[in-house]
Amino acid sequence: MNKVYIVGIGQTPVRENWDKSLKELAGEAGLSALQDAGLGYPDALFVGNMMAITANHQAQLATLMADWLGFHHKAAIAVETACSSGSAAFRMALMAVASGELETALVIGAEKMTDSPGDEITASLATAADAELEVDFGMSFVGLNALLMQRYMYEYGWKSSDFANFSVNAHANAVHNPNARFRQAITKETFAKSPMIADPINLMDASPVSDGAAAIVLSSRPISNGKKPISVVASSAMTDTISLQNRKVVTSLTAAQLSAQKAYQQAGISPSDIGLFEYHDAFSIMAALSLEACGFCEIGQGPRLAIEEKIKFDSEIPVATMGGLKARGHPVGATGVYQLVEATIQLQGLAGATQVKRNNYALTQNIGGSGSNIITHILQAE
Ligand code: COA
Repeated sequence: MNKVYIVGIGQTPVRENWDKSLKELAGEAGLSALQDAGLGYPDALFVGNMMAITANHQAQLATLMADWLGFHHKAAIAVETACSSGSAAFRMALMAVASGELETALVIGAEKMTDSPGDEITASLATAADAELEVDFGMSFVGLNALLMQRYMYEYGWKSSDFANFSVNAHANAVHNPNARFRQAITKETFAKSPMIADPINLMDASPVSDGAAAIVLSSRPISNGKKPISVVASSAMTDTISLQNRKVVTSLTAAQLSAQKAYQQAGISPSDIGLFEYHDAFSIMAALSLEACGFCEIGQGPRLAIEEKIKFDSEIPVATMGGLKARGHPVGATGVYQLVEATIQLQGLAGATQVKRNNYALTQNIGGSGSNIITHILQAE
């Protein structure tokens, strides 16, 4: 397989973007990545998105985007794996470039969620759960994660306040990210007083419903645009049962663990080599489970890393360095591409106030469903 480089990145601010359509958001991010790369049209377009059909009444999103961007007579494919759709599209593009089939590819992750009323978007999100075994019984994603968190707290003896620092850290980092949805710092007291959504998940445990798009240009050759070349040294995808009830163990993310192990193997490195981890903190329980799955602590000990403040940008294992899903926002099908864009900025040394110290390797992990479709990447600064 050929080596593949990230040669251009782009992103829109994550907001309630009521003045722009899904197509306009995705186009803005795509054009910005192409401009950053300084290349002409790519050989193909890959789009990651989860809810264009249910929330925006738009199928054929990849074709629509190729048309909107003026890539006529090029391949354009949309990829859907729920909340990991962005990373799935990136992985498909990566494999096509690595195989030699394409020289360049544009990946866009895009989602527009806030035009729909809350109950409709909750129902759209729930289509990523098992319709017969979970949704028919009234389950939402917040509900599923609440059950998971209850069980985890029971098994390992944690209190809900032990999860506060995941959110405090995410918001503290987002203050410095102009593209983040919530740029206000919060305290443990804000966390403790925030309204309950589904016990034990409160508002500060949850990522916000958001609009946004991010994009990346991949190439088989590095280019000299004045920035450090970044290569992709691992890409791994893994599934688990969709429904929580059919999982042998519910309080750890087995597929995330297997996916991370495979990625470390591909890159020939271990967790101690990772300088930053853009994790999938859709809920603070997912933050804890992701740190455990990727080998940064023992199973059941994720909250300890937050309590001991080892997850800050200048500490042992920096996470959510630009706000994460919690504070940058979680436009679901775009999130994986945002993670990869942010990891690239860190490895290029351009992250400003939250720049991490060790910027050789970055790990990203994007989770579809409640741990059912996991995609892990490792990027390296050349
Ligand atoms: N964190 C912090 N503040 C938040 C927030 C969050 N996650 N979500 C909303 N807010 C704020 C809003 O900015 C707004 O503030 P304002 O009154 O100062 O303007 C206020 O809370 C109410 O916003 P609203 O959009 O009406 O919230 P809501 O109650 O409809 O939705 C959640 C809140 C948490 C239920 C919703 O964001 C949600 O469902 N999140 C999870 C999404 C999800 O499941 N994603 C997939 C994961 S796998």
